[in-house]
Amino acid sequence: MLIKETDFGTPFVNAEAMVTLEIDGQSVTVPAGTSVMRAAAELGTKVPKLCATDSLNSFGSCRLCLVEIEGRKGTPASCTTPAENGMKVKTQTQRLADLRRNVMELYISDHPLDCLTCAANGDCELQDMAGAVGLREVRYGYDGANHLNSAKDTSNPYFTFDPSKCIVCSRCVRACEEVQGTFALTIDGRGFASVVSPGQQDGFLDSECVSCGACVQACPTATLIENTIIDNGQPEHSVLTTCAYCGVGCSFKAELKGDQVVRMMPYKDGKANHGHSCVKGRFAWGYATHKDRITKPMIRARITDPWQEVSWEDAINHAASEFKRIQAKYGRGAVGGITSSRCTNEETFLVQKLIRAAFGNNNVDTCARVCHSPTGYGLKTTFGTSAGTQDFDSVEDVDVMVVIGANPTDAHPVFASRMKRRLREGARLIVVDPRRIELVKTAHVAADHHLQLLPGTNVAMINAIAHTIVTEGLVNEAYVAERCEPEDFKRWRDFVSQPENSPEATEKYTGVPAAEVRAAARLYATGGNAAIYYGLGVTEHSQGSTMVMGMANIAMATGNIGRRGVGVNPLRGQNNVQGSCDMGSFPHEFSGYRHVSDDTVRHLFEGAWGVTLDAEPGLRIPNMLDSAVEGSFKGIYIQGEDIAQSDPNIKHVTDGLKAMECVVVHDIFLNETANFAHVFLPGASFLEKDGTFTNAERRISMVNKAMPPLAGYADWEVTMMLSNALGYRMDYKHPSEIMDEIARLTPTFKGVSFDRIRELGSVQWPCNDAAPEGTPIMHEKGFVRGKGKFMITAFVPTDERTGPRFPLILTTGRILSQYNVGAQTRRTENGAWHPEDVLEIHPHDAENRGIREGDLVSLASRVGDTTLRARISERMQPGVVYTTFHHVGTGANVVTTEYSDWATNCPEYKVTAVEVRLSNQKSEWQRSYEELREATRKIATTAAE
Ligand code: SF4
Ligand code: SF4
Ligand code: SF4
Ligand code: FES
Repeated sequence: MLIKETDFGTPFVNAEAMVTLEIDGQSVTVPAGTSVMRAAAELGTKVPKLCATDSLNSFGSCRLCLVEIEGRKGTPASCTTPAENGMKVKTQTQRLADLRRNVMELYISDHPLDCLTCAANGDCELQDMAGAVGLREVRYGYDGANHLNSAKDTSNPYFTFDPSKCIVCSRCVRACEEVQGTFALTIDGRGFASVVSPGQQDGFLDSECVSCGACVQACPTATLIENTIIDNGQPEHSVLTTCAYCGVGCSFKAELKGDQVVRMMPYKDGKANHGHSCVKGRFAWGYATHKDRITKPMIRARITDPWQEVSWEDAINHAASEFKRIQAKYGRGAVGGITSSRCTNEETFLVQKLIRAAFGNNNVDTCARVCHSPTGYGLKTTFGTSAGTQDFDSVEDVDVMVVIGANPTDAHPVFASRMKRRLREGARLIVVDPRRIELVKTAHVAADHHLQLLPGTNVAMINAIAHTIVTEGLVNEAYVAERCEPEDFKRWRDFVSQPENSPEATEKYTGVPAAEVRAAARLYATGGNAAIYYGLGVTEHSQGSTMVMGMANIAMATGNIGRRGVGVNPLRGQNNVQGSCDMGSFPHEFSGYRHVSDDTVRHLFEGAWGVTLDAEPGLRIPNMLDSAVEGSFKGIYIQGEDIAQSDPNIKHVTDGLKAMECVVVHDIFLNETANFAHVFLPGASFLEKDGTFTNAERRISMVNKAMPPLAGYADWEVTMMLSNALGYRMDYKHPSEIMDEIARLTPTFKGVSFDRIRELGSVQWPCNDAAPEGTPIMHEKGFVRGKGKFMITAFVPTDERTGPRFPLILTTGRILSQYNVGAQTRRTENGAWHPEDVLEIHPHDAENRGIREGDLVSLASRVGDTTLRARISERMQPGVVYTTFHHVGTGANVVTTEYSDWATNCPEYKVTAVEVRLSNQKSEWQRSYEELREATRKIATTAAE
């Protein structure tokens, strides 16, 4: 693939009216509003330019793109001049050439002439323009005042700012504003003294900068440049792939020298990200070749024995014989497996196939159990499909955005930038969150309503909103009559109309003034296109599924489903969590969310796989662990998931793992779960394999191999070897064959193949005969289940209650620079922003406990305690504390409890009653865990981690 894509100079204009003009004698037709520069580029004519690039609005500052237009005076800038019907433009005349050379002379007279040793040599637009305008001399000399000795800023770990090379084109400033929406950069000073500055002349690291890299990408010179390019030089080829961090699913070009990645460049035609990225996808990929990668299979008899490196064959045969032994001794159901939401669709499909066909049971589950399983349940019940309703582009038509229990600027940053752009354009914003997340007030964005409810009261809040909509006559009666089940609607309307669901009555639970709730409900119902975006703050509750249905109810009641700009949109966590659910990772469902007890579906799979399949749903992750502690579950194959760090009530998780006789961990690092493993199978990173990921908008995108697997095999090959060793034959030559099988067995994937995805760039399921190019918006002509189903959503307060012993509520979440359990991001420079997990506590609660900023505090719940540092923060409300779980040994999940969603067992991470006290030492759990870690991570033949 080409390293450089065409830069059209100014953005594409989406207009129905077209204009035709003539440029250098050639005719071209473009949408009205297109710049002359872009029209020329459409013809393949490159007008010299420096301050223009097609990701940014035109600015007209460098004066290099001048053109002559018949009948007009002067030489207008082509980047700021709209094309008009009948226009006759000349881009190359002697007069223009002289003017352009003059401009370039001025730039070059204040620019170091070290092109041969410059890191941007070969990728510098200033250099290209000097060539394009035929610059041969610089008459002004280099002796006058200049910026050549300006000091570099190397504070950001990923890029360097060298102001001596800056041409003050403002592309970086505009990228930070228009693309990223952070407004971290300014041009300080005027005229000759103008200089790009992060914040108040801070270094980049200490400024507002979130290290998204948009400015680096936009910079036409080496002023802002990636350190990996400084260290390694320019790439020579690139491979298109998909980010392996979050559910936004950004497309990237992995730019390489041989098989060494030197830069990840967000792909301009990527349909989820349109050329943007965040700090993780663009910069935090060094983990892929980190020294901690385990590249040899290992086995051991007991978890306290040192690991023995063995051949792949020995490791696979050992694992297979252990699973067979366990099944012979304890029964077919004594083993199971966990699929990975970090792995590809094809790999996930194979793991669940292995469990169902080779183990002969349905004991398969996935990490969605602990994040978005209520989304699957709630949306399937109400709409008929377990997935979000919109594509990301739909945000461009949103008038009212409702963000519930999500923190997009940290967890889904590229989509957050698009949200912020839409909000700057005038969309209104309602935030429902216990914390004052960044979106509540950030540069040029302010929420109209922040419903700062107490954790655990979401359902009371959604019922209060529904009550307002129904009792104030704001229901879209025509939509409901046409699209929804009438009896269910009537029942729901009667239910939410009851006085106990009014904003006034629910205020005692939520803590949010009734008037504010009513105002937000009115805005949602009457403000035009209203879209709900939500996250784990909705699902990770004992009423997670109820809340998902509650949101679906109000979307149907107001007619906000089934077109652009509306919808109920889960912001899914991991890169392929949507895919892992689609692929049949749940114990009760085959791919495409079809129940294992459905004879027709089961017989379809039995026919294809040549085995008899179990009609009974298998064990969920918590049930597997409970059964292990009880003694009936003895062996597990875990691909790419670290349940000993990510799942709630870690003590229970580790007790379960310790009770098993064969734990097989398949991962790129010796993770925390591997402390309890008997077989370690080295995994492959996303750069080392082919396959597909499915993002939060149901978009299936290609993952293409950029380097060979460090351990020799991609994960799908390892699962296949294990299956063959277990006696169930799998014989795929390439992941495309697995996708072909998925398409044969899954109606919503019927039209999906690697060829189709490559042809379309990406495709959103359902993709079948009815929708051969996929489905960006669901439920357009009717709900997938037929009529939309309103569900009763009675509020039941969680059993997790605060009291004298545990008076505070702990809620957990993520931050931008780290990802989930941190296995990848901790092995990058991202630690510069978040070196440890801290406890955010309101000043009032801190003062009551004598806690100051940075103090070590003990965080205790009824199930466990840990110690970490305090950060005093007014983002919290009094009575609520917050932490992340990115670092090993912090143990936030030692404190979280076993309470879970009534329908799906999704843990109630977001509500734990706790007490916080000053402390001067690690907790007992932390000390004993460190000892256990020390004892279980030794490798016999090589140095331990
Ligand atoms: S890296 Fe991103 S946030 Fe930081 S200054 Fe550049 S554009 Fe702005
Ligand atoms: S840093 Fe780069 S993009 Fe920013 S003004 Fe200077 S040359 Fe232009
Ligand atoms: S927003 Fe998500 S998918 Fe995109 S680059 Fe960042 S982590 Fe990767
Ligand atoms: S590119 Fe048009 S003025 Fe700079």
